[in-house]
Amino acid sequence: MNFNLKTNEKGNLSIGGKDALELAEEYGTPLYVLDENRIRENYKKLYTNFSSKYNDFKIYYACKANTNLAVMRILEEEGSCIDAVSPGEIYTSLLAGFSPERILYTGNNVTDDELKFALSSGVRINLDSISTLERLSKLPGSEGQEISFRVNPRVGAGHHDHCITGGDLSKFGIMEEEAVYVYEKAINLGFKPLGIHSHIGSGILDPEPFKLAVRTLMDVAGHIYRELGIQFEFIDFGGGMGIPYEPQENLLNMEKFSKEIVELFKDKLYQYNMGNPTLCLEPGRYIVGDASYLLTRVNTIKQSYRKFAGVDAGFNTLLRPTMYGSYHHIVSASNPLAEATQEIDIAGNICESGDLFARDRPIPGLEEGELLAILNAGAYAFSMSSQYNSRPRPAEVLVTDGYSEIIRERETFADLLYKQNIPPRLLK
Ligand code: LLP
Repeated sequence: MNFNLKTNEKGNLSIGGKDALELAEEYGTPLYVLDENRIRENYKKLYTNFSSKYNDFKIYYACKANTNLAVMRILEEEGSCIDAVSPGEIYTSLLAGFSPERILYTGNNVTDDELKFALSSGVRINLDSISTLERLSKLPGSEGQEISFRVNPRVGAGHHDHCITGGDLSKFGIMEEEAVYVYEKAINLGFKPLGIHSHIGSGILDPEPFKLAVRTLMDVAGHIYRELGIQFEFIDFGGGMGIPYEPQENLLNMEKFSKEIVELFKDKLYQYNMGNPTLCLEPGRYIVGDASYLLTRVNTIKQSYRKFAGVDAGFNTLLRPTMYGSYHHIVSASNPLAEATQEIDIAGNICESGDLFARDRPIPGLEEGELLAILNAGAYAFSMSSQYNSRPRPAEVLVTDGYSEIIRERETFADLLYKQNIPPRLLK
């Protein structure tokens, strides 16, 4: 696995036809660089594989992975729909040009105010509990609302415990055993149940648990049809398709994966005589994960009890290594294909010991001033960044066919103080 790294005539890392070193010079570091074509290719690869096997197929991009408006616009142009998990994501999606029918709102532990917002926005609402159903039914304008439920198919998978969202320990969804009761209740309360949903976790490279969840959800849908006569318009298996972060990991074989899922789906539709509902998936990482690079510069090489390369980003910029122990491949932007000659810890600039991008990472010799590229930084990277340690968030740049555009400006110190008030009695 060489992560599709491209170099230019100078031997430097080329992102979307732009020299990474020039990008760092022009926009400063740390810097997120997104490759527009890669986003479009990933979308098309998933879409083509599934839609060629089942023609009523829709992608609901899980925008929590990356909510930058330019990314959202690219996916709107591609024809995607949106998986939104908060009112803020609904707001962002509407602003990015997605019509409400193209947005599925899957909240969890949702307040009445959030439900009111979703109702007034006109988006589809995917419910996560009986409590939410009952509270929604009491809100003005909820009569006849189109809804669906997230079902926990009692199987989960993911790259880390925090990212497993199905199974007995999970807070998400309704139990499969109560699904018929819950849908019946929804009808009795005057709702229009349109679909059924599950999402079992994130970062899945083994198709087996995903297939098990598909089978279970289809059986649940089949029972609901038999018991209540509800023929769903859509069946949504969520997201979770993983990408390789480590060199020895393999890409998900999308041709095989789509074939297996669609076959299973069609068999179950036939078994229960459920018609031809829309098959939906909600990928986040698969679409944007490998489309972005975090450029960060080494400022300190230090031999302490261990050898460290200190860089100008931290877990405020990219949280995944600290939060999940996630591996992100790191290369020198001036020679991305060079052989490793040492093992070194690559540490961020946050005042915490856990602020490490890599421990004992094999890498070529590093010098102060050298530019590093942290790969696969498109999903859950900027969207999970913070201002911790009072560090302004970095800029984001979009590159397309050798052309770069700033799509989020670097924050300033003033942004750190945004919305703060000093009570007058404390003013100097
Ligand atoms: N649908 C629902 C309802 C979800 O909760 C999620 C992700 C997705 C779709 C998209 O999952 P994806 O295809 O991106 O795996 N911060 C973690 C990932 C958390 C994912 C949360 N839900 C990480 O950095 O790995």
